[in-house]
Amino acid sequence: MRTEQAVKRAAKPALVRVSGLSKQYVQRGAFSRRKFVIDAVREVDLEIQPRCLTALVGESGSGKSTLARCLALLERPDKGEIWFEGEEVSRQRGRELASLRPKIQMIFQDSAGALNPRFSAAEIIAEPLEIQRLASGHQLHKRACELMEEVGLSPDWADRRPLEFSGGQRQRLAIARAIALQPAFLILDESLSKLDLITQAQILQLLSDLQTTHALTYLLICHDLTLVKRVADFVLVMHHGKIVERGTRQDVLSSPQHVHTRHLLSSVRDLESAFREVQRGERS
Ligand SMILES: Nc1ncnc2c1ncn2[C@@H]1O[C@H](COP(=O)(O)OP(=O)(O)OP(=O)(O)O)[C@@H](O)[C@H]1O
Ligand SMILES: [Mg+2]
Repeated sequence: MRTEQAVKRAAKPALVRVSGLSKQYVQRGAFSRRKFVIDAVREVDLEIQPRCLTALVGESGSGKSTLARCLALLERPDKGEIWFEGEEVSRQRGRELASLRPKIQMIFQDSAGALNPRFSAAEIIAEPLEIQRLASGHQLHKRACELMEEVGLSPDWADRRPLEFSGGQRQRLAIARAIALQPAFLILDESLSKLDLITQAQILQLLSDLQTTHALTYLLICHDLTLVKRVADFVLVMHHGKIVERGTRQDVLSSPQHVHTRHLLSSVRDLESAFREVQRGERS
């Protein structure tokens, strides 16, 4: 994604806007009855631009997944507002919430754990369509096979179980399931972390292709700033529940203002060669 294009697109209204979002957890001590309050997300304000990839980075425990679950409406914030497509959605319930769900999808790191091991690939992809009653019978199977093809999986594997697939193929399966309902917003929580560099590069290429065909907006949570450098339009840096730095990829990575961002930048790996290898392979 080119940052200049992203900045132009950013002139449009944000797809997601968050203000004053906070989420606490109460934990009990292991050896006492004392309770501890954890401020997982603290007074977060942010905007996510449509059809862009925003990366959310930060050290372990900084609150990235909690924020993501709130944005995916899987968890209710204690305070604050979440605006999606111009509508405040953080307190929605029942039918209103059900009609929003297809538009916001989340993919987790552990794709093996998230995919039902007893279901076939086609059943996994078809399940959301079935639940939403968008297809049935032969149509449902056909649509699942089309989605497999779209994410680079052979429909010949439609009857195989997730454990027969490799890590990268399982991520493709999770992506096919996530796009089945044609979401506008896709959150990937460390989805690429366990994959080798070549597979990461291939999946990122797939995400980029899908962004064009499906007009998708991504929030990519990751630790790896090399990856962010390669694909993000915008970057949010989280530290102790707060967003401590934000901006275009260039702004944040070329002249980081916060000491924590500078610290993250010092732990960079080289993904570039993996990308080059994937692109060479596609050309040959
Ligand atoms: N369901 C929960 N119950 C209690 N505490 C939680 C819960 N979920 C998260 N926390 C706590 O909230 C804080 C933020 O956790 P969170 O998982 O959001 O961080 P993270 O940035 O995603 O970390 P990681 O990079 O390791 O995935 C941590 O201190 C964590 O222990
Ligand atoms: Mg997390």
